[in-house]
Parts: sequence; structure tokens; C-alpha cells
Amino acid sequence: MVDSLKKPGFEELRPGIKVPAKETILSPKFYTTDFDAMAKMDISPNEDELRAILEEFRADYNRHHFVRDAEFDQSWDHMDWDTRKQFVEFLERSCTSEFSGFLLYKELSRKLKDKNPLLAECFGLMARDEARHAGFLNKAMSDFNLSLDLGFLTKSRKYTFFKPEFIFYATYLSEKIGYWRYIRIYRHLQANPDKRIYPIFRFFENWCQDENRHGDFFDALMKAQPQYLNTWKARLWCRFFLLAVFGTMYIRDTQEPGFYEVLGIDAREYETYVIQKTNETAGRVFPVMLDVDSPEFYQRLDVCVQNNRDLATIVASKTPKVLQIFQKLPLYASNAWQLLRLYLMKPIASAPAQGTVR
Ligand SMILES: [Fe+2]
Ligand SMILES: [Fe+2]
Repeated sequence: MVDSLKKPGFEELRPGIKVPAKETILSPKFYTTDFDAMAKMDISPNEDELRAILEEFRADYNRHHFVRDAEFDQSWDHMDWDTRKQFVEFLERSCTSEFSGFLLYKELSRKLKDKNPLLAECFGLMARDEARHAGFLNKAMSDFNLSLDLGFLTKSRKYTFFKPEFIFYATYLSEKIGYWRYIRIYRHLQANPDKRIYPIFRFFENWCQDENRHGDFFDALMKAQPQYLNTWKARLWCRFFLLAVFGTMYIRDTQEPGFYEVLGIDAREYETYVIQKTNETAGRVFPVMLDVDSPEFYQRLDVCVQNNRDLATIVASKTPKVLQIFQKLPLYASNAWQLLRLYLMKPIASAPAQGTVR
């Protein structure tokens, strides 16, 4: 009976526990940082706003939201294999990135507890939210007999070290991008209920408000540390992180649009919407925005997508590995060239727009 739910192709660590997807440059990252530097941070320049956000976190608006109702209580045997594969991979990607947020925030709340109690409590409450999100997604995976062993993931993943300001840029963007992604899917499925293949999407409306609040916390935190926003170095790094986050998401999702096709979403349209909105939102705190309205922006990313498809074809071919290296080199060089040109595209100064872009 269980076998009818197992998809050949998903490897298992032990029965019902999925082997985590291989880490690639495009998969969600696990982070660690300089906890001492973070603890010593003076947040007084924006303490009032941070206290107001802490009150919001304490209010815990989604306390009763993540409860599986009767609609979950059914068999998913009717879902065809391809849909199931796309969906389980989506759940895994989302669960991994929610869980990576949980680990980082939890560790920060632990390490900052004595030295910076306000920040420690904020991180602790954000960890609470991310644990809920990851748990809800993992429970959904278990409906397909393929959950993740989060303890194993904690021990087996590589952790990327980022200085505090890089943590701020990266997590701010991933929270805001998370907000726009969840809300876009939610609204699409509200308009196209026949495409809602599983009840979890109904939860995205309130869920994304958690991500939005997390993003606002990092916004307030960066404003308490203006040196991370108003120097020439900050402008260069913000450009870098905007491009890295947008580029990674665009390339990953347009390269493999399967999950979005299942929901009846045009992946490219979805990506451009999410990027445009996140870019506008980021302009409220970052000193620069990217010129994502320029046709050159997506043309260059599309070249990368095609290069990656060609790379995959080479890897899957029977050509000897040594020769494959020579076939792959020009494609890697082209990717690097496109990304460099994208980085050098003239950004848009966002200071005049701060406070007006919504
Ligand atoms: Fe989350
Ligand atoms: Fe979040």
C-alpha cells in the first residue's frame, strides 16, 4: 500500500525519510556569522522602531494559523507522478529554506541573549515563525511519505560564513522575496481554484505576512546601522546581493519551470513580477535598486539559463569527461561574462524614492 505512494527516483535515507536534494549553487544556503560583532551592535539609532516590531512579533498574529484542517485528511494517490515530483521538490526547497532561517535566527537569539536582549528576543520570535513554517511544509511532505530529517540536515549541510552586514542584506532580501513569492502564488490560486492541487496554498496569505514582518525587522536593523547603507562599499554590496538573489531565483525557476506549470503559472512572468516588486521594496532601505525594467537585464539572464541547459546536455551525453571539460568551458565563461555585465549595469539610486515606494 505504501509502495503505491513511492516514486521511483526519490532516494530515501530510511523508510519515509527523503535523502535531501544535492546542494548546488542554486539551492538554499545555511548561514553562520560573527556572533560577537552582532552582539556588540549599537541599535539605539533605531531602537523605537525595533521595539515596535518586537511588539508585533509578540502579538503572534499567526498563533492559530498553522493548523491542518479536514482538507488535508485525504489520500493524494490521485496526483499523477509528474505533479507529485514537482510538488514534493517545491516542498523540500521551501522547507529547507524556512529551516535554514530557523537555525540562523535560533542561534542568534541564543548567542545574543545576555548582550543584546532586544535583538535576541526578536530573533527568537522569528525562529518560532520559521520553525512553524518548516514544520508545516515537512508535514505536507509526509503526506507523500517523504519527509526530511531536519536533525540530519542540520548536521550534514555546509554553513556559509557571512559578516553581519552580509547576513542583513541576504536575509532581508530572502524574507521580502519570500513575501512576494507566497502572495503571488496565493493570489493566482485564488483566481484559479482548479489549479490548487493541495490545501497548503490556502495558508500563504497570512503566512507571507510573517515573512513581511521579518523583512521589516531587518529593514529597521539596517537603519540602526547606517554605515551598512550609506557608504560606497554598501552601494556595491547591495547591488551584488540584489543581483545574486534575483539571478539565482530567476535562473533556477525558469530553467525548471515544472512546478509553476503545474499551478498554471507562467514561470517567467512570475519571476519578473517577484523581482520587480522585491526591487521596489528593497529601494525603501537599500541605497540602490537594479534597473530590472531594462530589457538587457532579462536578456542576459536568459543567456545564462540557455547556457545551463546546454551544460546539462553535455553532462548527460556520452562524451568522455575530459572532452566535456572543453565543451563546458565556453559556457562557464559566458555565464561569468553575463553576470559581470549585469553587475556593471547602471543601478538606480533609491534615496529619493525612500518612503514612497510601496
Ligand atoms: Fe518563513
Ligand atoms: Fe521569514
